[in-house]
Amino acid sequence: DHEGRVVVVHNGIIENYLDIKEKLLASGHEFSSETDTEIVAHLIAYHDRGNPFEAFMSALRELKGAYALAILFRDQPDQIFVARKNCPLLVGITENEGQFVASDVAPMLSYTRDVVFLDENQAGIVSNEGLKLFCVNTGEPISFQIERVEWNPVMAEKQGYKHFMMKEIHEQPDVIRNTIGTRTSEEQGEILLEDIGIDSARARSLNRIVITACGTAYYAGLVGKYLLEKAGQIPVDIDLASEFRYRDPILDENTLVIAVSQSGETADTLAAIDLAKQKGAHTLGIINVKGSTMTRKVNGTLYIHAGPEIGVASTKAYMAMLVAFQLLSMYLGRLRGNLEAERCRELIHDLKVIPQLIEEMLKEKKLVEEIASKYMNFSNFLFLGRDINYPTALEGALKLKEISYIHAEGYAAGEMKHGPIALLDKDCPVVAVMTRGPLYEKIVSNVQESRSRDCRVLGIITKNDRQVLHHVDDALEVPDIDPVLSPLIN
Ligand code: F6R
Repeated sequence: DHEGRVVVVHNGIIENYLDIKEKLLASGHEFSSETDTEIVAHLIAYHDRGNPFEAFMSALRELKGAYALAILFRDQPDQIFVARKNCPLLVGITENEGQFVASDVAPMLSYTRDVVFLDENQAGIVSNEGLKLFCVNTGEPISFQIERVEWNPVMAEKQGYKHFMMKEIHEQPDVIRNTIGTRTSEEQGEILLEDIGIDSARARSLNRIVITACGTAYYAGLVGKYLLEKAGQIPVDIDLASEFRYRDPILDENTLVIAVSQSGETADTLAAIDLAKQKGAHTLGIINVKGSTMTRKVNGTLYIHAGPEIGVASTKAYMAMLVAFQLLSMYLGRLRGNLEAERCRELIHDLKVIPQLIEEMLKEKKLVEEIASKYMNFSNFLFLGRDINYPTALEGALKLKEISYIHAEGYAAGEMKHGPIALLDKDCPVVAVMTRGPLYEKIVSNVQESRSRDCRVLGIITKNDRQVLHHVDDALEVPDIDPVLSPLIN
């Protein structure tokens, strides 16, 4: 604040900061920046009548938007005030080595594995004595639970990799093994998911599934839609959580709403779950972080067991989400009588082989580097896929944008002729997922059309598929597996 007495760390956006700023300017506050964060410090100072925590609570009641806040008063250096709204915040507890505040579990791990996830509308005082929590609305103290995180500090280190994303890509085989865990019985052709809160009666009574998520988790959900409709024979809708939460979706007690999230803290997905529950739907979370806010909101959880994902771009969690959807679709398919035990057995067998196949693929780094260096100077890419690999194209385009800062679009290949083909020329290469599957011929012909526009094609193709080589300029070969499982490999 203008006296340098209140220090603020803020993640999020204060939506009504201009209104608050106007009020504070009128009462003589001077600002040194244009940021929304600065008004938080001034607002606390404005409310301070000698009780700093009361001032903090009064300020919180005025703030709209999203925040994870950590506040320090210069005159009280042994206390940190914390609060959250629509942004994750957790406190790490130790007996003698201090307390810690962060927005994610990973940075805590070298200090403590005992954490408290704050809920919406909670504020706390962190000090040497531990944590005290209060309800922001009533000011009443709140009791809380300390969660023990199963991850260890080594899991949050780079372990010799240049960056976390590379490490996490290499963890994918083990992550898939962990997600499968003890959830299958190959002998009986059964999936063992009794702990997710969907028994046989509920599985049979479902008349619709709605999947909701953001970003990469949404694309995993899109693969889930194909799988659940096929094996479960249930109509499945999917919606971005940021759209779903502001619509008036039609849901009832026979709808299963599946929320997908690595962090379990994404604000739009959390709000989507609240809405689904309000409307009486049964909710299931496909989630990575145990104890996260989402796990406490949903009726049941299917943990993906991917370990800490520290790289900003999701990789291994995406794989684990795909496996989770695979297992869930087979589980519902068996319970609803739409999937034969024999077919389930076959899929379990093939699923278990995938980690090994990916280990082999990860050895092809040199080839990938060579191809990357051929394509690195293009500034636009089109990713094409069909059917269950349409989401693979969307996810590929997202990763390229996010990591290489190159513009890329993902398209369902059958849509090309309805407009986007106009964009293709020698400066816009196509990355096409054209592995063997039910729509193989279709995508090959879509790629032929694209090539008539002179664009370069990089095909993701099935190993030893000589025939397709005529239609691509470069190829990355992947092992031949059941098309239903191909998104994991592609
Ligand atoms: C993309 C990516 C994001 C997340 C999205 C949802 O690489 O990481 O698109 O997938 O922000 O996050 P979670 O899964 O934590 O809800």
